Amino acid sequence: MRVAIAGLGRMGRAFAARIAADGFAVTVWNRTAGRAESWAEAATPAALVAAADIILTSLTDDAAVEAVYAELLAGPAAGRLGPAAGRLFVEMSTIRPETVRAIAARVEAAGARLIDAPVAGGPAVVAAAQSLAFVGGTPEDIDRARPVLDRFCRKIAPMGPVGSGTVMKLVANLPIGVYFQALAEGLALGRSHGLDLEAMLGVMLDSPGALAALPRKVPAILGERGEVPFDIAGVRKDLLAMTAACHRAGVPAPAATGALSAYAGATAAGWGTRDFSTIINFWAEAVAGLPPR
Ligand SMILES: NC(=O)c1ccc[n+]([C@@H]2O[C@H](COP(=O)([O-])OP(=O)(O)OC[C@H]3O[C@@H](n4cnc5c(N)ncnc54)[C@H](OP(=O)(O)O)[C@@H]3O)[C@@H](O)[C@H]2O)c1
Repeated sequence: MRVAIAGLGRMGRAFAARIAADGFAVTVWNRTAGRAESWAEAATPAALVAAADIILTSLTDDAAVEAVYAELLAGPAAGRLGPAAGRLFVEMSTIRPETVRAIAARVEAAGARLIDAPVAGGPAVVAAAQSLAFVGGTPEDIDRARPVLDRFCRKIAPMGPVGSGTVMKLVANLPIGVYFQALAEGLALGRSHGLDLEAMLGVMLDSPGALAALPRKVPAILGERGEVPFDIAGVRKDLLAMTAACHRAGVPAPAATGALSAYAGATAAGWGTRDFSTIINFWAEAVAGLPPR
């Protein structure tokens, strides 16, 4: 099976490395050229589609996904006989469900198929083949993607028709954004009473209030500046998608809306590229007025 990947960001590169390591022929395309490493690089998105049976897309946001699919589905004879005909697209970005559904309709009109399969876990989790994929699509299309998804997933969770994988991704990530903002408020309270940040984190990790994602975030919260798997601006983007989806569905979301204000404020204040867990440091220093640790 020939595999293509559009988008060589943190996730796209991790997918490409895992899939290629298992012996699949991998062709890649990225808006900014020169990121292909050892993988074959297509000159255009249409050339990428021509070189593959299954095309994974992992891009920043809705606008990026819209722009790239417009090019993926273009070509000399676009439509049912165009270069995309017969292909399977796997959309893996965290975006809005209505965007995925609209693109799936365009893919179908081009004679191809699409499933949405966003994953839980960042690049290190992909590299360890421990991702959890939330998948929307027909059972036949999902089965077709399994040989590729199995390269980096410990579990594939079918959630329903196209779009439902994306809904599940919003469901799964909403409490994480809210959790870290809630933790930021709690830890700022503790620091304002003179408690030590590291000591408080040690207690939190040993308490029922610890999220599974917390242990690997402690170094960043304590000021270590390493690789940033996912940043504050990314959580802002996700919370915008979550609150918009809640609004459309008539589901009040005061916690997510409050968290969105915090991550948006941090992004506006120049903290957008920092690890998302440092919302804790932003809240203590920039909002509560405590000294940097
Ligand atoms: N990082 C994580 O831990 C994680 C985990 C799960 C899910 N996700 C989701 O996976 C997706 C990708 O995340 P990431 O961390 O890999 O992001 P990233 O490192 O910021 O990479 C973003 C990719 O999107 C491309 N892109 C952005 N705007 C574009 C446009 N208008 N046209 C064409 N390409 C465009 C970028 O191309 P250039 O190189 O040209 O800028 C790059 O390849 C996001 O939706 C994210 O929320 C991330």
